[in-house]
Amino acid sequence: MQTIEILEKTFDSESNDIALYLAMSRRAEEEGHSEIAAYLLNVAMDEARHAAEFATLLGKIKDTRTNLVMMLAKEIKAESDKAEAAKIAQAEGHDNAFEFFEKALLDETRHKTGIKKVLSKLGKELNQSNDKQS
Ligand SMILES: [Fe+2]
Ligand SMILES: [Fe+2]
Repeated sequence: MQTIEILEKTFDSESNDIALYLAMSRRAEEEGHSEIAAYLLNVAMDEARHAAEFATLLGKIKDTRTNLVMMLAKEIKAESDKAEAAKIAQAEGHDNAFEFFEKALLDETRHKTGIKKVLSKLGKELNQSNDKQS
């Protein structure tokens, strides 16, 4: 297997592990195992750092403006995907999934709005520094 392919697979598997460890940490907390919950949360953060490093090695991370533009497109897609998923889950009677798609949809909308705000702030900062240079 080529290195890039291995890096992609490792990135995917580390990313999956973040979610699993976070959910398992939450479960441990619910079961009253606070110390185990804290440990699992710690491991989740390690996996997040690993995933971030693999993302960087794969060239997925660019300059901040490019990163924000890319993620804005992803958040817009996530927002409409969640809306569609909520409809399907509701029609099929998956009430828990429906409720969570609706809740997560609000988060995606918040992410979209937040990224738009920082992009506009960054645009102004870039314009100011260009003005100073010219
Ligand atoms: Fe890892
Ligand atoms: Fe998001």
